[in-house]
Amino acid sequence: MIRLAPSLLSANFATLGDDVAKAERGGAHLLHIDVMDGHFVPNISYGATVMKSLLGKTSLPFDVHLMIDSPDTFIPDFVTENTEFITVHAEACNHLDRTIQFIKSFGIKAGVSLNPATPPTILEYVFEQLDQVLVMSVNPGFGGQKYIESSTEKIRWLFAEKQRRNPELTIAVDGGITLKNAKQAADAGADLIVAGSAVFGADDIEARVKEFLSILR
Ligand code: DX5
Ligand code: ZN
Repeated sequence: MIRLAPSLLSANFATLGDDVAKAERGGAHLLHIDVMDGHFVPNISYGATVMKSLLGKTSLPFDVHLMIDSPDTFIPDFVTENTEFITVHAEACNHLDRTIQFIKSFGIKAGVSLNPATPPTILEYVFEQLDQVLVMSVNPGFGGQKYIESSTEKIRWLFAEKQRRNPELTIAVDGGITLKNAKQAADAGADLIVAGSAVFGADDIEARVKEFLSILR
């Protein structure tokens, strides 16, 4: 099954709970949580406090995307009853294997994200341990950017590797996803589609989620 994770980054923070409720009513599967530290990426977003304000208000599982240096320091803050995945960037980890084990020690699924310029072969020796690979299809830091076409080939490469080595792996794609290109990413092998501005930028969030789901079905 292909799942949709709207990214909170593009929601209206003055009406956060309402925006999330609309996405949930539309049938979204997870809520993507973009955490940016102003160091690993040139922007600051929000931290665990904002995410935790949604606890008890949504039953959507959290798909946490940490775009931060030294993620081990902050991983425990994002462990909640809603957290399904915590994903770190390969480029931000000196000891990626250790960080993956650390996430799993909380009973949370572990993900690793790759910037557009990072080859997927960097995952060679941890591939079997991964629950998610998150393909960044824009350079991370901002919502509303354009999908980088070479990401589709990276998804294909990962899908072939998944079938051989880790059939349970979730392949996520994040950045520049629209109603027009979501199917292309899914056909290449992505089974978790992240969309920020294309969902929360819509006049009718609930209807937009339904449109995505009908395309991905
Ligand atoms: C970008 C973030 C994305 C972002 C996607 O750095 O990781 O999750 O919210 O936004 P759109 O879908 O607008 O590109
Ligand atoms: Zn993200």
